[in-house]
Amino acid sequence: MIYNMDCIEGSKKYIKDESIDLIVTDPPYNLGFGGTTQTKSKKPRFSIIANDNLSDRNYQRFTFQWLREAHRILKPGHHIYVFIDWRMYPQLALWMRRCGFVIKNCIVWDKVHMGMGHQYRFRHEFIIFAVKGDGKARRIPTRSTTDIWSIPRISGNKTVHPTEKPALLMDDIILNSSFEGETIADFFVGSGPVPVAAKQLGREVIGFELDQAYFEITNARLDKVYLSE
Ligand SMILES: C[S@@+](CC[C@H](N)C(=O)[O-])C[C@H]1O[C@@H](n2cnc3c(N)ncnc32)[C@H](O)[C@@H]1O
Repeated sequence: MIYNMDCIEGSKKYIKDESIDLIVTDPPYNLGFGGTTQTKSKKPRFSIIANDNLSDRNYQRFTFQWLREAHRILKPGHHIYVFIDWRMYPQLALWMRRCGFVIKNCIVWDKVHMGMGHQYRFRHEFIIFAVKGDGKARRIPTRSTTDIWSIPRISGNKTVHPTEKPALLMDDIILNSSFEGETIADFFVGSGPVPVAAKQLGREVIGFELDQAYFEITNARLDKVYLSE
């Protein structure tokens, strides 16, 4: 179930304490990002995403609010994966620890194809991998998986969202950190890679997306998954 609403409000309203098996989410990085692909008129293809242009203080408040909700709904010892880039990693890692998550690793997503950036072109993002609490935690089933994942990004002219992630990137996360039939939460659904991968892999999903256009794109993608089953 995906809701077209604010994730903090939605989580409080619809998700019970310690009822979620896995959280995978890609929050706004507060970099004022509206996509890099320019049309012929040099205008950005997308508007700046919601909550991506806040004052430092408001971004911190917003992040603490959703992280506290994430902590409340996740089962103890279960996993959370949060996307971020190098510029915001220090703050997010600190805030996650303050909210009760224990950071286990930082996965580097190698996007294979370079993006923007003029002093070394950008080609990676981080995925913080953490667990709730410091008690007994779920373990990743395979000992041979490394923390660098090379999965091609979606090329700029094919994206439908300014910070779109490939659904393929979510497969290993979901397979390594949840079982079939379990429930995954995504606070910032965007164009839907987490719900799409979750449904394809037989998991239940609950997610929130503030922007109606992206909410509709996600639902259309999910309909295709249902039709192909
Ligand atoms: C970084 S993007 C996620 C992109 C997604 N991973 C994808 O591949 O399409 C963050 C998304 O969160 C949404 N968003 C921002 N603030 C929100 C909030 N308070 N509640 C729900 N969604 C929110 C934005 O509209 C944006 O689509």
